[in-house]
Amino acid sequence: MAFGIYIHWPFCARICPYCDFNVYKNRAVDISLWQEVLTQDLRWFADQTGERTLTSIYFGGGTPSLMPPELVAALIEVCKELWHPSDNIEITLEANPTDAEQARFRDFRSVGINRLSLGLQSFDDAALKFLGRNHSASEARAALDLSLKTFDRTTLDLIYARPEQSLADWQQELTSAIETGVQHLSLYQLTVEPDTAFQKAVDRKDWSLPDDPLQADFYDLTQEICDAAGKPAYEVSNHAAPGDESRHNMLYWTYQDYIGIGPGAHGRLTKSNRKDAVTATNKPGDYLTMLPEEKFETEALQPEDQAAEYLLMGLRLQSGIEVERYEQLAEKSLPAGQVTQLINKGLLLHDGNRSKLTPSGRKVLNQVVLQLLSGSEDQS
Ligand SMILES: C[S@@+](CC[C@H](N)C(=O)[O-])C[C@H]1O[C@@H](n2cnc3c(N)ncnc32)[C@H](O)[C@@H]1O
Ligand code: SF4
Repeated sequence: MAFGIYIHWPFCARICPYCDFNVYKNRAVDISLWQEVLTQDLRWFADQTGERTLTSIYFGGGTPSLMPPELVAALIEVCKELWHPSDNIEITLEANPTDAEQARFRDFRSVGINRLSLGLQSFDDAALKFLGRNHSASEARAALDLSLKTFDRTTLDLIYARPEQSLADWQQELTSAIETGVQHLSLYQLTVEPDTAFQKAVDRKDWSLPDDPLQADFYDLTQEICDAAGKPAYEVSNHAAPGDESRHNMLYWTYQDYIGIGPGAHGRLTKSNRKDAVTATNKPGDYLTMLPEEKFETEALQPEDQAAEYLLMGLRLQSGIEVERYEQLAEKSLPAGQVTQLINKGLLLHDGNRSKLTPSGRKVLNQVVLQLLSGSEDQS
């Protein structure tokens, strides 16, 4: 079984108005204390996992490109000392594209980062301003150029279906991103999350998201452009040629094992015949002061929880789920009546031992999962 480590750095230079991740403004951060605590947490997990081959490390956030490269280096070293790194281990770091952060790309490369995930969001200055980003379109382009020269692999995030954005704007923006030769793209439709500054703006009627038919057109256009460029969606929002997928994120979607350290991080760990969900406490202050056995909450997942998680994650993938694996986790078969109904509606496909969503099914993923889990047949 593949095994990865997620390290959450919860600090950002400023908080973007659309973001609902577990993030905090970057104030006086005691780097040596974080190093000590994160190292202690890795050791605590190593006692539980035993020997494993480590296939990926992912520094996510927040803004881990604000971490000093020395801290990144120290944590990579500890991971490699505690587990056996695979020959082609993938080590990703999420970066924001400001000039200050670009200046550290080379250092990140030299301490072992081999894949950079750039949060570009847009190549348009007005859109970046609207999104509350602290970088310009020219910084976004320069960061992408530098990343492509510096790292083995680069992925970028863009947010589309923004108010005021036309389909033609998006076509031009996405095409120019693909033309850079970037290996992987995460393309997200703008979502207004509860309790964010954007939610307040929408409540005040300052602006609104594109209506549903236009959102669907944005989504279809995205698939068309990426398919034509040989970078189809291998997952709902993630696009790459075969072989260039995010190995770390594939752990989540194929329901493998990973540990998560840092405030609010999640993990899934198989121990003999049980699978645990492990969640770290959210607040950085608590995280630093609590012992590992206090700050990490462990819940043994029941067969039905594991089956639900596997469906929710696996059906996000273009390649879908392995039916046998589902049956092992759930300790029962997929409900035949619902499966037939979903196939007849053109939402689900059976292909040997795999079940996967059709393009129409992907648009109603949550509904399909609910129907498969509920056991009750949809009468519509
Ligand atoms: C963990 S976040 C951020 C990484 C990095 N700190 C950054 O902002 O560039 C991963 C990505 O999720 C996307 N994202 C976050 N909130 C979103 C929202 N409300 N709607 C659409 N995309 C969102 C952004 O593209 C973001 O880069
Ligand atoms: S989008 Fe990225 S930079 Fe902005 S607040 Fe969220 S994690 Fe931080």
